[in-house]
Amino acid sequence: MPDGDVVIKVRADGPLKITGPVTVVDADGTPFALPDGPVALCRCGLSNTKPFCDRSHRDGGFHDGGRAG
Ligand code: FES
Repeated sequence: MPDGDVVIKVRADGPLKITGPVTVVDADGTPFALPDGPVALCRCGLSNTKPFCDRSHRDGGFHDGGRAG
């Protein structure tokens, strides 16, 4: 992949891990402050910091293999 590409990786039993230059905005279009490095978006629905993953999927029993095929 070329440098600068955005990659969204579906983590097995976990979040969507996004690497690359992204902006995450709320319903009003206001950008969230993001940490340096990858961003993890919750896909289990259990996070207390939505839309970001707070690792609640680990205790919540979320299971999804995250495989494309
Ligand atoms: S995927 Fe991690 S808390 Fe939902």
